[in-house]
Amino acid sequence: MTLVNKIDPRCIRFDNDKPLFTDERTREVMDDAAQLLRQDQVVAFPTETVYGLGANCKSTQAVRKIYEAKNRPADNPLIIHVSSLDMVTLCLGTTIPEIYWPLIRKFWPGPLTVLLPLPNDSDISPLCTKGQNTFGCRMPAHPIARALIAYSGMALAAPSANASTRPSCTEAKHVLEDMQGRVPLILDGGASNVGVESTVVDGLSDPPRILRPGGVSLEDIIKHGGPGWINTRSEINVHVKDSESVKAPGMKYKHYSPRARVVLVDPDFNKDELEALGDGARKIALLSTLRTSPATLRGVWPSAQILHLPLGRTKSEISHSLFARFRDADNASADLIVVEAVDTENEGLAIMNRLNKAAETYVRAV
Ligand code: TXA
Ligand code: MG
Repeated sequence: MTLVNKIDPRCIRFDNDKPLFTDERTREVMDDAAQLLRQDQVVAFPTETVYGLGANCKSTQAVRKIYEAKNRPADNPLIIHVSSLDMVTLCLGTTIPEIYWPLIRKFWPGPLTVLLPLPNDSDISPLCTKGQNTFGCRMPAHPIARALIAYSGMALAAPSANASTRPSCTEAKHVLEDMQGRVPLILDGGASNVGVESTVVDGLSDPPRILRPGGVSLEDIIKHGGPGWINTRSEINVHVKDSESVKAPGMKYKHYSPRARVVLVDPDFNKDELEALGDGARKIALLSTLRTSPATLRGVWPSAQILHLPLGRTKSEISHSLFARFRDADNASADLIVVEAVDTENEGLAIMNRLNKAAETYVRAV
């Protein structure tokens, strides 16, 4: 049985790092959630990026339940979520290296994950770190996430709340689709604002690297990170190689995947190439950004049914709606999803990283 409990984030305020609840019902719901966490159970909760599946990061029994609920590959480490800077020192027993301070001052709480050194005598469950000598750490900005951590008094290991390989969840109903009967409680705080996951940065290597583009852009890291981050590059080449552009890059890249096949297209895509890919598809979902319209696709496949699911026009809108539209296309039983590419500036890097991983094929301009 999975219970879904609604909370209005506006009913939570903070006195420094201490959460205050403006009504009794909110306090009760948070009490129940904290109680489950203390019993080594998993609780799904909203963050500003995507929903997470949280458990006490120091309990191997609890963290194991996260991997089981998601069916997550065993070698993928988890991000640990804190509600205050004190928690990093007092609860996780590490100090934050100098290099991160300008970024943390600017972006915490918020969609930035930093790799911190794992102390030798750390009591963080080895299931969170998977043999690395670092752990990923972030302070979420969402009031429900932060209050849950503070109120339960534990740092929470929390991956995205989707079943492994599926698109991340930006609404409680998406979590229910994937986690029905697999977790006891989902806290429903409405739609996640950012919509893509946090940016994961490694400031312990030289030069520092972005391991996963996300809610904080490369440009913002360079702008606000101070001298240590000026030469930061993203490890991510969001464009698949030309030789792979026609047929599947392969399971290695499969991630964030709707059930339907996904084809990524440049606005001036090669029509013949796209047409061949839609062979046999009867219901085609179009996730458009700036230039592609249903009429464009009707010009390619005159007899297919085109379901138009616009992603929005700004990159913030596109980030926000991307995963939800993938799920909408699946729920409407589309058998092909055509997504219009964006450029990789600012939020575009994270968007194109997710799209490339979801897509089987990328059809470029002629
Ligand atoms: O926005 C987010 O980060 C969301 C919300 C729930 O906070 N969480 C999330 O977690 O996206 P997950 O598990 O889906 O993705 C975590 C990413 C993975 O790519 C993982 O490999 C990487 O962070 N990661 C975690 N710890 C790491 C470490 N010690 N070294 C390198 N990569 C690490
Ligand atoms: Mg994930």
